Amino acid sequence: MKHIDNLPTSPGKFKEKSAYIRLRHHFSLAKTTFWTLAFVGLIYISFFRSLHIAHSDSSRRFLRTSFYGPDWEKRVKESSKIGSGNGNGVCVLVTGAAGFVGTHVSSALKQRGNGVVGLDNFNDYYDPSLKRARQALLARLGVYIVEGDINDEELVRRMFDIVEFSHVMHLAAQAGVRYAMENPSSYVHSNIAGLVSLLEVCKSVNPQPAIVWASSSSVYGLNNKVPFSEKDRTDQPASLYAATKKAGEEIAHTYNHIYGLSLTGLRFFTVYGPWGRPDMAYFFFSKDILKGKSISIFEGPNHGTVARDFTYIDDIVKGCLAALDTAEKSTGSGGKKKGPAQLRVFNLGNTSPVPVSDLVSILERLLKVKAKRKIMKMPRNGDVQFTHANISYAQKELHYKPTTDLQTGLKKFVRWYLSYYRDGKMSDQ
Ligand SMILES: NC(=O)c1ccc[n+]([C@@H]2O[C@H](COP(=O)([O-])OP(=O)(O)OC[C@H]3O[C@@H](n4cnc5c(N)ncnc54)[C@H](O)[C@@H]3O)[C@@H](O)[C@H]2O)c1
Ligand SMILES: *[C@@H]1O[C@H](CO)[C@@H](O)[C@H](O)[C@H]1NC(C)=O
Repeated sequence: MKHIDNLPTSPGKFKEKSAYIRLRHHFSLAKTTFWTLAFVGLIYISFFRSLHIAHSDSSRRFLRTSFYGPDWEKRVKESSKIGSGNGNGVCVLVTGAAGFVGTHVSSALKQRGNGVVGLDNFNDYYDPSLKRARQALLARLGVYIVEGDINDEELVRRMFDIVEFSHVMHLAAQAGVRYAMENPSSYVHSNIAGLVSLLEVCKSVNPQPAIVWASSSSVYGLNNKVPFSEKDRTDQPASLYAATKKAGEEIAHTYNHIYGLSLTGLRFFTVYGPWGRPDMAYFFFSKDILKGKSISIFEGPNHGTVARDFTYIDDIVKGCLAALDTAEKSTGSGGKKKGPAQLRVFNLGNTSPVPVSDLVSILERLLKVKAKRKIMKMPRNGDVQFTHANISYAQKELHYKPTTDLQTGLKKFVRWYLSYYRDGKMSDQ
């Protein structure tokens, strides 16, 4: 409307009258313009809608027949083959297989003889070339990752048509606490809609798989009773990420209750290690320390320490495998529940919170570079001040017992980091 406002007004003695006429003229002009625009807009919208639908239909058909064709089917089958080891007839669909935890879990499953097929959409939340490198690593082990979205029910159904998965290890998600303020809908898309789509397929296939999935320690939110136990309250999330993980736990309850799906949620506590996630502090601290860039270390109110219960990836993998191994069968069939099914939630942490400033000191020693520290008040954008897991339930049920302290784990991370970014051919970003 700016161009209309900017029209010169005619000065003079007929100002009052001409203003009135102009106003009337302006009004009817606006009315005509409005209806014309509305009409044109409607035609425009319906035209492009039909175009879009036609387009996505044909591209879908194209994908189904060529991209997801016989060759693709063969690769999926090949990857799902159960080895001669102690596979126990276990065949796992791993979602988020090109992710940090997904890669490690897929590799461990394959190496002990289970059938494994991955699913990942390779989104660019962080450098996709790292996901591609993990994919290449898994390919060498014989694990194929299907490229697709967990929201694509048709695709997931197709995978279940080809392979009778006994288990689903669901790790695909939009991770990260701070990014939720930038792109909230990606959290709803992957962590809520995507979870529901996946469970819809799982509940309707025969036999139903048992599902183990990643929740998060962030569900404890503003809970300040430490250590965090599974029975503590989780109804005060401090970020949208946490809220979507909490929603996931409630959705899991529903699908267990109505359809008899066996569901195990794992609340991971700050997982770190080789092939880790570039958006996490230990990772970008290393990068910035090496570059001589200053790093921001947060502190809580009254100079309070910010600490994390850092958990090494190998310990998490053991917990994931134990959760799969102790998962009971789902009880439903034909989309109907036949009896009560297993529903569990476990903390998987390390039980020893380490202040972030100590993390930096360890990194300085390992990288042999002094960090430029900048102490800052922790912004209120989703992070909590402290996490500490009570793992006695996982210890009892899963024989989960973390064995890697931060020093030892970071040493392995740094060794990997240096060879991947410095000595390797990978582009530094
Ligand atoms: N790493 C941690 O410290 C930590 C802590 C708590 C919980 N978790 C949870 O553990 C799981 C694995 O985390 P991670 O650290 O490996 O993260 P990650 O981002 O490395 O892995 C997630 C993978 O899922 C894929 N993905 C995301 N949305 C998808 C979609 N809609 N369809 C298909 N693929 C999709 C991504 O491309 C990515 O490769 C996530 O559910 C995460 O929320 C991780
Ligand atoms: C840890 O959790 C268990 C329940 O799994 C509980 O019995 C125990 O008291 C908790 N320990 C602490 C120190 O809170």
